[in-house]
Amino acid sequence: MSSGTTTITDTNLKTFANDVKSGLEGTPKTLSSKYFYNDKGDKLFQLIMKLPEYYPTRSEYEILSTRKQEMLKLFHGGGDAFQLIEFGAGDGTKTKVLLKHLVEQQVEFIYLPIDISANVLRQLKDSLAIEIPQCEVITMPYEYFDALERINAESKQRKVILFLGSNIGNFTGERAHQFLQSLAHRMNPNDLLMLGMDLMKDPKTILAAYNDSQGITREFNLNLLDRINEELGGNFNRQNFTHYPTYNPITGETKSYIVSTRKQQVHITALDQTYELNAWEAIQTELSQKYDLPTIDKLAEGAGLHIKSMLFDCKHWFVDVVLEKK
Ligand code: AVI
Repeated sequence: MSSGTTTITDTNLKTFANDVKSGLEGTPKTLSSKYFYNDKGDKLFQLIMKLPEYYPTRSEYEILSTRKQEMLKLFHGGGDAFQLIEFGAGDGTKTKVLLKHLVEQQVEFIYLPIDISANVLRQLKDSLAIEIPQCEVITMPYEYFDALERINAESKQRKVILFLGSNIGNFTGERAHQFLQSLAHRMNPNDLLMLGMDLMKDPKTILAAYNDSQGITREFNLNLLDRINEELGGNFNRQNFTHYPTYNPITGETKSYIVSTRKQQVHITALDQTYELNAWEAIQTELSQKYDLPTIDKLAEGAGLHIKSMLFDCKHWFVDVVLEKK
């Protein structure tokens, strides 16, 4: 996951302003987690992925390391060359394990990382040139579906799409359904999708992952207020807010909030608005959905996708689900 916000265009800023406005005017108040990822947010997320409490990255790294032979067999299918497309590639740490293996086994493929941040893609391409020079890379600095349409228009080669890290969990159930349906619509019968999904587990383990002892996740969440201050001329005082994550073991919803610790007013110049916050009023900032197997089945079924394989880590904390079009 990364920002794409290194250079803020007027359109991006307008969308940000509109989203903040509708979020703060809604009941309950919300701010979208997609705005976590400015330069500072990208750096904080890199730190989060290395935290002892943040298990999803390590669990998925284990899956990629231990099941790469199986992935090769699934992806390589009949032995034809394919395009390995990755949504939200970020720094590619986990994917490099797979790329290295494919290159070592002399598999014919092209790697197409998609990310709205051209900056992130440049860094990824540079690091791949050093670490895996034999890997052919074409970077795609576009929105996911725009990039897919360009890829489809330019080549009839089989596609294997990676959407790792349980990024799907940051969508609400309805949006996840729509996203998968749109994705399936752009897939051909032999194409594959490998979807990383974080699973339900001991609620204490999940909660600790979003409330780490070093306070990095707290910084990550509150950075959203700094970003509004910097880019939209807000006057949020972060001393008056606290980071509060929750986990619902029935629904699997992990939600993060920024809670106002006192009655206060916040002015946002770009919106020409002042917002009232009551003492202990919460702003929801993020959903990180945790899944059980029946929900995964339902999501796949609803999008017209068939589960070909499920690759778990040894603790069954995380799963990479390989899907094809029905
Ligand atoms: C990017 N996304 C899948 C992460 C998650 O777990 O929801 C973002 C994150 N938020 C807090 N920690 C990590």
